[in-house]
Amino acid sequence: MDLASLRVKLHDWYKWNKRDLPWRKTNDPYRIWLSEIILQQTRVNQGLPYYNKFIANYPEVKDLANAPQEKVLKDWEGLGYYSRARNMHHSAKQLVDEFGGEFPSTLSEIKSLKGVGDYTAAAIASFAFNINAAVLDGNVFRFLSRLFGENTPINSTKGKKLFQKLADDFLNPKDPATHNQAIMEFGAQFCVPKNPACADCVFNDACIAFKNELVNQLPFKEKKTYDRKRYLNYLFLEKDENVMVQKRATGIWQGLYQFPLLESESILEEDGLQDYLFEQNLPVELWSLNRVYTLPLHKLSHQSLFIKVWYFKALEFNKLDSFEALELLPISALDNLAFPRPLRKFLDEKQLTLPF
Ligand code: ADE
Repeated sequence: MDLASLRVKLHDWYKWNKRDLPWRKTNDPYRIWLSEIILQQTRVNQGLPYYNKFIANYPEVKDLANAPQEKVLKDWEGLGYYSRARNMHHSAKQLVDEFGGEFPSTLSEIKSLKGVGDYTAAAIASFAFNINAAVLDGNVFRFLSRLFGENTPINSTKGKKLFQKLADDFLNPKDPATHNQAIMEFGAQFCVPKNPACADCVFNDACIAFKNELVNQLPFKEKKTYDRKRYLNYLFLEKDENVMVQKRATGIWQGLYQFPLLESESILEEDGLQDYLFEQNLPVELWSLNRVYTLPLHKLSHQSLFIKVWYFKALEFNKLDSFEALELLPISALDNLAFPRPLRKFLDEKQLTLPF
């Protein structure tokens, strides 16, 4: 089905099914802005009384700008995400000071208001000024991904771009305001996340997800795995071609050998490491730093390891009680031990078994 027919279907559905909401009966940008800020993280039913209260208490932008912040926050009480109220109050002053109390009518000026991002700017610009700016919120992502069978993750950079393009192409240039209200309403009321009534849907003959039984799989979100950054400092303590090693008792490298390990909160330079050793009560006076090796970044599935090997010439091997399971071995014996991959690579490349 072509885009024009799909737009007509959407428009017709909206005409018969839209909720009667006060911000839909005005094109006053101040009121629309207020409603959109309230609805950013709040459901319509919860936001409605607040919208009415704000319109009653602050009928014009100058009333909001002139109000003390405590009063605005008090009126916002119970809605949560109070930065919305603080930003809105800040923007009201900006509207009075910079725009003479008149709401700006270009997308970029609207976006310059604190707390107004791409979605809110497109909503205000289209609803108040009929500007061709397509809204893209969770409802729109869901509807478009299903209708067009688009499975690019909506939370990826590529997905955001692609869906914005889809929304832009789909926008009705003759009536962007109604189109935007309609697409959001359709997503909110009909093309809902769980168990949408596809059998009764006006788009079911066009919907790719419906045809392919993918409705419950779309929109697709990529799982953002938390990438933990770790900073590992291995102490290569050498004396007369013997070196201290430690068998790991826990973790992914359990049972493998390593050098005495100090983990830090960030990348350490020489001064930082020396301070750290001192704090740990290690015998810094008995060690002299020979050189430092920074290993290539080692990526595991959920971790990025920043590894440095600090090569010290040691005079003595005492005061090392804070490290468990230490063994003193000839450097030449390291070849026979299992080390984690980055350390094995390091040992092989540096050929530390050769006289240094
Ligand atoms: N959520 C965000 N903006 C909305 C609007 N204009 N109407 C209904 N729900 C919304």
